[in-house]
Amino acid sequence: MKILGKFKKFSSEISVPSDKSITHRLFIFALSTKKESIIRNPLLGADTLSTLAIVEQLGGMVKKQEKAIIIKGKGLRDLDEPTDILNCGNSGTTIRLFSGLLASERKGLFILTGDNSLRNRPMGRIIKPLSIMGANIFSRRNFLAPLAIVGNKNGLDGINYEMPISSAQLKSCLILAGLKANSDTIIIEPFPSRDHTELILTYLGVNIKKIKNSIYVYPSEDLNPFDLTVPGDPSSAAFFVVLAVLIPGSKLLVRDVCLNPLRIGYIEVLKRMGANIKLEYCSFNPEPIGNIFVEGVEKLTATNISPEEVPKIIDEVPIISIAMALAEGKSEVSGALDLRKKESDRINAVCFNLRNMGVKVVEKEDGFLIEGTNELKPSNIKTFDDHRIAMAFTIASLLANGESSIDNPSCCAISFPDFYDKLKEL
Ligand code: S3P
Repeated sequence: MKILGKFKKFSSEISVPSDKSITHRLFIFALSTKKESIIRNPLLGADTLSTLAIVEQLGGMVKKQEKAIIIKGKGLRDLDEPTDILNCGNSGTTIRLFSGLLASERKGLFILTGDNSLRNRPMGRIIKPLSIMGANIFSRRNFLAPLAIVGNKNGLDGINYEMPISSAQLKSCLILAGLKANSDTIIIEPFPSRDHTELILTYLGVNIKKIKNSIYVYPSEDLNPFDLTVPGDPSSAAFFVVLAVLIPGSKLLVRDVCLNPLRIGYIEVLKRMGANIKLEYCSFNPEPIGNIFVEGVEKLTATNISPEEVPKIIDEVPIISIAMALAEGKSEVSGALDLRKKESDRINAVCFNLRNMGVKVVEKEDGFLIEGTNELKPSNIKTFDDHRIAMAFTIASLLANGESSIDNPSCCAISFPDFYDKLKEL
């Protein structure tokens, strides 16, 4: 596909697809009740459809309506033993959250696998603590999927676990296992990561406490059914926010977005760089939701991202790198080693594509240094089949001074199936 550069100043109001992280969690929580739950406005992208298919394989009864999914769950325990493997596709959230839910079952065999990218992502981070809890969980060599889980007839023990990395997927995996354990669980994270699991479970009446960086999880009965609407995904909004920020005089309003502070770190970063962005909060339960107003500015200034800030912008680093590339001065990202273990090696993918656009970049093990420039050259974008790389560099190409091409635009369907139609709306 070709992408024309020199995108013109625009004034627009848009909505973005529903939040991926919240949709995954609501599908899984709905399976964990015995009654019917309604998930309104869910994201039906490739990743969340993988989760939904597994919910069905485990005994959830799924009804699809025009703008809602209704799920009659099986309860927290005694899920159906699937008659086939559980295919998590490209989704790390799916494989890691279900591993916690299934390792704590008392019977059954569950095989979790996914596409080539997922089968090369690290699963040791969940296998080690789940094994300490007593789980029978097996993997390929080097802790890689496929994973095989055999229910433990005695159930799991709680765990007091200091996580070696900040990861909401690992944290959520252990919370789900802890809900079914025989004793209490304490999970400590180095720096706070997205807390949708904790917020939504608390809203559903589960006893789960957060004190500083520690999360206390107590064994629970079946979850209560719910009727919840999924807000817009701030990570999807980020692509349009950055486009508007970088075109002087542009105006953009993104409506009904999840404004959880652990998800909008990128807005703090952009504001620090001189962006003109305002937030309007509209509702709060269980997640803060509201609107984002953006006005384009003449020039951003460089900034540094510290390891502590990384979990709050983990999915936005590729698009933030585009803002850094067009800022005045040198920017640096550090402490982001885990980005090498995402759907692609995102540190390498960002550096590779920026260099092709004429930007001076130094690739470090845990991040990169970017020297800002005034102009991006058109290039052939290599997506590495990673949705966020594809979208970030599509935005970069729109700002470049000529026509670019992109190798696999269809990978955007993982989180943002109509990304290119939305761009046309602008
Ligand atoms: C997610 C957590 C993050 C993020 C991913 C979604 C989640 O991963 O990168 O896109 O839904 O919990 P890690 O927890 O592995 O950092």
